[in-house]
Amino acid sequence: MSDAVDTRRAPAVEDETELRSARSRDAFAKALTFSRAEEAEAAGVHPYFKPIAAQFGGTVRANGRDMVITGSNDYLGLTQDPRLKAAARAALDDFGTSCTGSRFLTGTLTLHETLETRLAGFLNKESALTFSAGYLGCLSVVSALAGRHDILYYDRENHASLYDAARLSFATLRKYDHNDLEHLDRLLAADADKPGGRIIVSDGVFSMSGHIADLPGLVELKRRYGARLIVDDAHATGVLGASGRGSGEHFGLEDDVDVIVGTFSKSFASVGGFMAGERKVVEFVKHHARPFIFTAALPAMQMAAALQALEIMESESEHRERLWRNVARFKNGMRDLGFDTLGSETPIVPVLIGEDERALAFWKALWDASVFTTPALPPGVPPGKSIIRTSVNANHTDAELDQLLSAFETVGRALGVI
Ligand SMILES: Cc1ncc(COP(=O)(O)O)c(C=O)c1O
Repeated sequence: MSDAVDTRRAPAVEDETELRSARSRDAFAKALTFSRAEEAEAAGVHPYFKPIAAQFGGTVRANGRDMVITGSNDYLGLTQDPRLKAAARAALDDFGTSCTGSRFLTGTLTLHETLETRLAGFLNKESALTFSAGYLGCLSVVSALAGRHDILYYDRENHASLYDAARLSFATLRKYDHNDLEHLDRLLAADADKPGGRIIVSDGVFSMSGHIADLPGLVELKRRYGARLIVDDAHATGVLGASGRGSGEHFGLEDDVDVIVGTFSKSFASVGGFMAGERKVVEFVKHHARPFIFTAALPAMQMAAALQALEIMESESEHRERLWRNVARFKNGMRDLGFDTLGSETPIVPVLIGEDERALAFWKALWDASVFTTPALPPGVPPGKSIIRTSVNANHTDAELDQLLSAFETVGRALGVI
């Protein structure tokens, strides 16, 4: 993926919409004149918000038929695991449907503390804290720790959560080119005489390109400049490392990552977010982060499912092994067909298509061939570099992967992509 990936902007948000609204005295003009989604829907090429009626692992029911899905984040295939469902049901019976309050006030359950203790143990950190979403975890950690006297360095391809977190913080912001540590080095060196703390924040696995962060390089710079390192391992926990502990374990650098942020919405097959790090740092975030304090606590059902997923991650390596076997089968198949998967190193496999009209045509042909997937278009990716963002899960059967490869081959040849 090129440096120019900008994950802050949703594909459906258009500059022309902003321009139109700038000319109007009605602040809602941008909404009232926004027609691109309806036009795409009418033309049968709106690839987003497609409702799924039922999920069965690598296949879903959508549009009245069974479709093979690629692009979900159910990496370990646990969303349909009976043990997670039973744990969620039991928690529902014990705690009810909601905490109806902030963690700060009436919303802390014993289950929050159990899950946090277990997570800290799994990630080899002193302490952990859960959030109502991974997005809120990113906002909380970065906005609380990157204060007005600090400088925050972030990778251009970081997830939108970290971009929004940077905006919410009062720190001075410095963006470095994607995985370009010479650029980061130059920025750190240029700030050498400035007061305040330095924080480097990076995705562990980049959510669009599937690249792994250059953690050894980040750790080297962090040491050289006395910076702190925060890693968003949303796509790495459960996936990378011999025990699934993420990018730190993958590189043997767990102790050098000061704070891990993560999500339960991917390998953990639930919803919610977390941070793990030094006890004092977690305590500080707990008492200062507005996106943690001013929202209702993570509900019990979600925590029970995540806790059960954690137990499975710790005790059963076969899900991770099946995931990587499937990744190899799909990626090798795509490479043999001649597709460009942009150097992906993980279960996230972007497939370069090119111009956005071609990517939409590609998506539509896959949809008609009963493949459920989604494209990423400008401004989410650079112009002319639209992709179909696929990802492989432990759930996919060989037959489903072969169906995917066959559909990509047929459409790729028909549209001249391969
Ligand atoms: C890298 C990254 N960070 C954070 C998030 C936010 O996680 P959540 O879905 O739990 O809000 C995502 C989700 O897409 C992500 O990909």
